[in-house]
Amino acid sequence: MADTAEPVTGPDAAPSATSSQPLLEVTGVEVTYQEVINALRGITIRVHSGAIVAVLGPNGAGKTTTLRAITGLLDFHRGEVVKGTIRFDGEELTKLSPAGIVDLGIGQVMEGRRIFATMTVEENLRTAGFGDDDALAEVMTRFPRLGERRRQLAGYLSGGEQQMLAIGRALMTRPRLLVLDEPSLGLAPMLVEAIAGAIGEIRDAGTTVLLVEQNAAVALDLADRGYVIENGRVVMDADSRTLREDPDIMEFYLGRQKGGERRHYADVKHYRRRKRWLS
Ligand SMILES: Nc1ncnc2c1ncn2[C@@H]1O[C@H](COP(=O)(O)OP(=O)(O)OP(=O)(O)O)[C@@H](O)[C@H]1O
Ligand SMILES: [Mg+2]
Repeated sequence: MADTAEPVTGPDAAPSATSSQPLLEVTGVEVTYQEVINALRGITIRVHSGAIVAVLGPNGAGKTTTLRAITGLLDFHRGEVVKGTIRFDGEELTKLSPAGIVDLGIGQVMEGRRIFATMTVEENLRTAGFGDDDALAEVMTRFPRLGERRRQLAGYLSGGEQQMLAIGRALMTRPRLLVLDEPSLGLAPMLVEAIAGAIGEIRDAGTTVLLVEQNAAVALDLADRGYVIENGRVVMDADSRTLREDPDIMEFYLGRQKGGERRHYADVKHYRRRKRWLS
């Protein structure tokens, strides 16, 4: 890609080069697993500094794969970026190790809330952040329940508290970008709200957020912009308000229609027939 100072014109033109430069720029990324399974077929996602960007899509669409590509975790799953670029603050990530990517300022909470069940809450946090007392204090302030339970074994925490701990661990490295895979999965509505509230606060405190969610209602409430991925491709991207009001998003992702009757996006047969986004 050219990195000359040529002025940008047309619909993508922005007031200045710095304000138009996304913090994270995923361009035309294709990923295969085991050299044969095409999981991503050309994904382009831009995340501007200070934003919350949501990635929506049904099971198997490629959401987790997108996050693995960004965080360097594909290796562990016998996956590979075979095409495209991923730039964070101008740096190409595709050749970096997961640790190198964390060092650049990307914190991640991947599927399954990876925490150490036999360590205390505090130990979990300290091992994630090289013993930084200030970062620890900030996480305890962000999630007071973790403060209350700091000497308790993490394995005894509730699902919601474990998710808070997983997010807390990611915050211990003071990331500029926080990447989250399905933070609301399996949580009771009240806890979903608590986690969503915390994500909003984390952004307000200056961390940019890229959020994968199947709970489209929560994601679009929180996010500034959303990308819909289906079958390894972005089929729609727009600001959250536009997505919330889009009839297809309403019907297949928010489970409601303008008329009132409730449907579910899993009702794909009808949806495939319409295929409006794909044409
Ligand atoms: N380790 C792997 N090896 C082979 N194929 C994989 C692997 N992980 C994912 N896939 C395939 O890649 C595609 C995308 O999967 P991915 O996990 O990214 O989807 P997702 O959008 O996160 O789905 P979900 O909502 O179920 O979490 C799927 O077809 C899946 O079967
Ligand atoms: Mg997933």
